[in-house]
Amino acid sequence: MVSNKIYVVMGVSGAGKSSVGQALSKSLKLPFYDGDDYHPQANIDKMRQGIPLEDSDRWAWLKNLNLLAKEALKKEGAVMVCSALKEVYRQELSKDFSTECEWIYLKGSYELIMERIQARAGHFMPPELLQSQFNTLEAPKNAIEIDVSAPLSEIIKELEMTFNEKKEFGLFGLGVMGKSLARNLARNGFRIALFNRHLAGVEEGVAKNFKDHFPELKEAAAFDEIAAFVNALGTPRKIMLMVNAGPIVDHVIADLLPFLSKGDILIDGGNSNYKDSKRRLDYLNSQQIQFIGAGVSGGEEGALTGPSIMPGGSKEAYAAIQPYLEAIAAKGEDGKPCCSYIGEEGSGHFVKMVHNGIEYVEMELLAEMYAILTALGKNPTKIASIFESWKSDSNSYLLEITIDILRKKEGDTPLVEKILDVAANKGTGNWTTIATAELGVPSTLIANALFARFTSSFKTQRQKVAAIFEHSPEVQTMEEGDLLKAYHFARIINHYQGFQLISEAAKTYQWNIQLSELARVWTNGCIIKSDLMKKLLPLLKESNDLLDAPTLQNELLLLKPIANKVVAQCILSEIPTSSLSESVNFLNQLKTDRSAANIIQAQRDYFGAHTYKRINDPLQKNYHTIWT
Ligand code: 6PG
Repeated sequence: MVSNKIYVVMGVSGAGKSSVGQALSKSLKLPFYDGDDYHPQANIDKMRQGIPLEDSDRWAWLKNLNLLAKEALKKEGAVMVCSALKEVYRQELSKDFSTECEWIYLKGSYELIMERIQARAGHFMPPELLQSQFNTLEAPKNAIEIDVSAPLSEIIKELEMTFNEKKEFGLFGLGVMGKSLARNLARNGFRIALFNRHLAGVEEGVAKNFKDHFPELKEAAAFDEIAAFVNALGTPRKIMLMVNAGPIVDHVIADLLPFLSKGDILIDGGNSNYKDSKRRLDYLNSQQIQFIGAGVSGGEEGALTGPSIMPGGSKEAYAAIQPYLEAIAAKGEDGKPCCSYIGEEGSGHFVKMVHNGIEYVEMELLAEMYAILTALGKNPTKIASIFESWKSDSNSYLLEITIDILRKKEGDTPLVEKILDVAANKGTGNWTTIATAELGVPSTLIANALFARFTSSFKTQRQKVAAIFEHSPEVQTMEEGDLLKAYHFARIINHYQGFQLISEAAKTYQWNIQLSELARVWTNGCIIKSDLMKKLLPLLKESNDLLDAPTLQNELLLLKPIANKVVAQCILSEIPTSSLSESVNFLNQLKTDRSAANIIQAQRDYFGAHTYKRINDPLQKNYHTIWT
């Protein structure tokens, strides 16, 4: 049974509200209030005379019931009966506690109810008023519907069953990630409702078939009809959307909205753009619906066994879904869930976007190491062994899967050698690059890794140019140990840039993001989990700027000359390693106390009178020069 609720039995006069309400109050062991007992005398007199009540007659009465219900909620809740025929009446009655209000709508035909009214004695409502009640009635959307022709005992049994069976968490969209998360929730003992749309001939009975396929989903309820799905959930409803990012999320929200009640919570668990999440949050809040934009990382397997979850939005809404998300999340070395409230607005999706940007670079660096080792004459199996030996110094999930990938054979041939060398993307790297440009932050490695994918996609052009530059220089000899060090160096720069980007975004958007907590969330479950992330966690507790950490400074000082050497060797060998090179170049630029930007400023002033500032000018005035 769901506790601390007000169960309101509603419907036209004569539908049997009092009998159902009294029996239900007994069954739920909750106090019973009959709304009719709280009508002002003037209303009773009016009805006795056969005069239907106006809206204005009802407000004082509904306000009374509202106060009564709020008092009851402070204790154990109550069962209340009230005709509550119109939506506005229901809103007035449940004002301030709509999320704790469960509506039970007694539905029956005019003829049946008229028969009952005529049989009952002593009630102030004359039968002639029934038609006006039916005229006023607006059937509720979010109520449990009860057919009043059933015997009372059956009605109560049905209600008991419904309350016991109300699901606590809804999963909307059963694609790969949605399915895995659903199973994860069920394995954690949550009572869940599943929804997947019905698309004739394409997606039919998806939720039902999925439920039937996995024993852990035995207790789950499966739907392909939105109203039934929403009504199967206890309030405040918690619905996680696992649909493709983009306009589909807006369509789904529009479809769900008419069935939701004030205070319900929607969680978008897709890779949505953080600006869309902010827009959706504002819109849904205006509709009194709570919204959480949650980044979810870990792919299909992670979603099933424990993803890393980055929820953003209102802290209050997060508190209501925290037990569910924390239970299904991966656990860190300290046993804590890899799920933590990230911050306001779209910050959850922002950090997930940057996660993906870091992921792009980590993948690109491994691909570049593969390119170098291939150029040095190693085959995939050998490269896998070399990468295996790197685990003790620089282990990560992406390194591990790359080893598996390199070892995979089809017949005698490594499968990677059969894969077309054109890298795709779903957009999060683009968004990170756009965000970094908008914020004026140099996340150069992310942009580089993205552009490397773009360059790869110009396959025909590459083939044409390859024919022109047919003769490559001899490949320089490179030490495997040096490659590992250069790789490690670039990874540190990658993580430094990623956290800097988040730190700057947090300042700009006034999000209160704790970088060390975010690093903790990223130590397990996600695609960029690694030993390095575990190492960075305590450093971020000291400062948001990783380069403040003496240990990291020393490491970079030691690794830099080796990274310089490897980059130089790659350039001389004409092996494309744009991200590795950029990591060295970026640090070169960052460590240049007196840069060449003075030239840029002078040029801007020359052709555009954009002015410049002078060194050692405490007033930092703008100067303009006539240059010729
Ligand atoms: C994750 C992944 C996941 C997805 C990427 C792929 O954290 O689980 O990042 O979100 O695999 O979106 O992105 P691309 O298709 O752009 O490489």
